[in-house]
Order: sequence, then C-alpha cells, then structure tokens
Amino acid sequence: MIRYTCVNVASNNTNDNILIINTKHYERSTGVRAVSFFADLPDSNAFKGWQIHYAAGPYDLHLAKQFPEKSFYAQHVDPNGYGAYTGKISMEMLIETGIQGSLINHSEFRVSSESIEMAISKARDLNFNIVVCAENLEEVAKFAETGAKLVAYEPPELIGGNISVSTAKPGIIEKAAAICRKNGSRLIVGAGIKTHIDISTSLNLGASGGLVASGVVLASNPSIAITSLINKELT
Ligand code: G3P
Repeated sequence: MIRYTCVNVASNNTNDNILIINTKHYERSTGVRAVSFFADLPDSNAFKGWQIHYAAGPYDLHLAKQFPEKSFYAQHVDPNGYGAYTGKISMEMLIETGIQGSLINHSEFRVSSESIEMAISKARDLNFNIVVCAENLEEVAKFAETGAKLVAYEPPELIGGNISVSTAKPGIIEKAAAICRKNGSRLIVGAGIKTHIDISTSLNLGASGGLVASGVVLASNPSIAITSLINKELT
C-alpha cells in the first residue's frame, strides 16, 4: 500500500510566522503567465522567522516541481482519495505532486461542514497542511474545535478592498487568536492586507500571519510587495 506523507519545503519551525499568498485566478498569476509570475517571487524561507506559501490555482500546481524552493499550496482540496471522482482534487495527488498544503472553504469556494471535518481529519493523518477559512468568529471556533491546525479568518466584505481586517476587526482577531490558542490551533488573517502595518498589527493582536491576494498579485512589483509586508524598513 502506498503511504502518502507530505514533506515540507518551508521551515518546519512551528514558531515561524506564516504568509500565504493566494494568487486566485488573476490573469497575471495564472496559466501562461504563471511561470514568469512565480519566478520573480521570494523563496519560501527567504525571510528569517517567516514561512511563505503560494496558494496557486489547480492548473498551475505543477509548477511546484519547477520551483522546488517555493512552497505551493492548493486553493482548494477535497477529502476523497483517488477514484471515480470528477473534478475533485485529492490530498494524495497534491502530496505526490509536491504540494505542501491547501486552503479549504475560502469565501469564494465554500464547502460543506462535512467536507471540512473529513479534510481536517485526513490532513492530520497525512501530515498535510490544511488552512480552514472562516468568515466570522463562530466559524473560527467551530473549525479550531474540530482540530484544524491553521484557521484563516477573512471577513468576506473586506476581501479585495483597501480596508484591512486588522483595521476593521481588531477585536475579532484578538478573540479568534485566543480561541485558536486554547484549541492548539494557529490563526492567520486576511482581507484587505496591503502593508507591513496591517501585518504587524495582526501579529500584535495574536495572529500568526496573513493571507494576502490583491496586495501582492496586483502590486506593481509583487516581489517587493511581499518583502515590504514582512520587512518594515521597506514600507
Ligand atoms: O485569500 C486571500 C483573500 O481572500 C484576501 O484577498 O485581495 O483582500 O488580499 P485580498
């Protein structure tokens, strides 16, 4: 029997902060433009104390082989294994392709509670990094209690905008971080994050990092945008 297990490209240090760049389905970061887009971005261990992961669309995940120093995540995963499933993405396939983890239940791709629970449990068995997205505090609590190791809080109304989650929802971040800690999970936050201050405020409120899309993918220089999120000197 084949035993699938995920070997991490990014540092295994569980104290590292985490930055996940969700490239979504933007024209610039997808398909024929994806190779040049990813080629310019920092490697996953480029910044001490940080792990950077790139959540790419399904068509572009094969690039993990081409960029072994970058940790690729999927934007969605299903809990099924190999078999007669149409349009599904299994953890087994992701692991065999060198993919390090996946988002699940993003606001733009919501799935059932049953799928989330099955995926959390399977990810634990396979040592696969699953990031369960939550739209509010109740969902953060539910997923942390279900055993998600990483929960991403993203208020949907702020996604893609210029007001960051850390400006608009500091109280929720603080409560969500405390709930995650109590359950042995870590919290990252996303929506509207564009600057180092957005990230550092989130960390000060108890989060372990950020989940960012437009602030990097649509920036004039995505590589500098990532560096500036992490490094205050560059903002
Ligand atoms: O998954 C990240 C995302 O939904 C946040 O998007 O564009 O507000 O950084 P954005």
